[in-house]
Amino acid sequence: MSVHTAPADPSPAARPVMTLPRLRDAAARGEKLAMLTCYDATFARVLDEAGVDILLVGDSLGNVIQGEASTLPVTVEQMAYHTRAVAQGKRHAFLITDMPFGSYESGPELAFASAAALMRAGAQMVKLEGGGYTAETVRFLVERGIPVCAHLGLTPQRVHAIGGYRVQGRDEAAAKVLLDDATALAQAGAAMLVLELVPSVLARRISTELPQLMTIGIGAGAGTTGQVLVLHDMLGLTGGTGAKRPRFVRDFTRVPGSEAQAPGLSIAQAVAAYVAAVKDGTFPDESVHGY
Ligand code: KIV
Repeated sequence: MSVHTAPADPSPAARPVMTLPRLRDAAARGEKLAMLTCYDATFARVLDEAGVDILLVGDSLGNVIQGEASTLPVTVEQMAYHTRAVAQGKRHAFLITDMPFGSYESGPELAFASAAALMRAGAQMVKLEGGGYTAETVRFLVERGIPVCAHLGLTPQRVHAIGGYRVQGRDEAAAKVLLDDATALAQAGAAMLVLELVPSVLARRISTELPQLMTIGIGAGAGTTGQVLVLHDMLGLTGGTGAKRPRFVRDFTRVPGSEAQAPGLSIAQAVAAYVAAVKDGTFPDESVHGY
């Protein structure tokens, strides 16, 4: 496991425009990658200026923008619309867009058409959920010049099959399936892998055994190459209106060590605090989520 280091000069002017090779270089240096979801141009500018490495146009926009109960209703057209908006607002950050439910599962040709629409809108990589059965599709896209981020563990598009939003890969057999899936996806050419709600020991093991994959954790402990949170969660905006904020999330608008009623940090400061905490390894705190 490599030791993480802070970037030499985090000021916006000094930051390079993030490309896939530059992300790989940063990861190889042991730098932790900070990713946040983003859905519009204004937030893209704020997050970019605060030093976020990667913006993810997540299909979580179904929940936090559209007010849906799941990500399932989201379409390729909606993802492309938000991708274009985010692409207009960002300068340095790398841009990944989720392939929504129904846009890739039936095979490589459908996946290519969907991914092409998202890349035309400004995505620099697409993300798709699912295990080894998606490896053929991942290979097809990568061979045609579309970088791919895979997504294992809790995969929200399968919420009805799973039966809820719960930790995955807890027992030995399930952990082995997850490790085998990650291996197949890495061999198919995926450059990045989101690990959502998996035990930190397993996420660390996958990150160590498959160094060719940049692993991005969400509720997966501190042993991954980087971290991602849903923007509205880390700004403390979810939780009161039916959308439940997961336990592993930290509300970065709270002044550290202050009372619950203390005035919040500004959005830009909160995002900068998140980037700093990911980079220096103080977020996530494995003792808090307890997997
Ligand atoms: O849609 C999304 O926001 C995501 C993150 C939770 C990783 O996939």
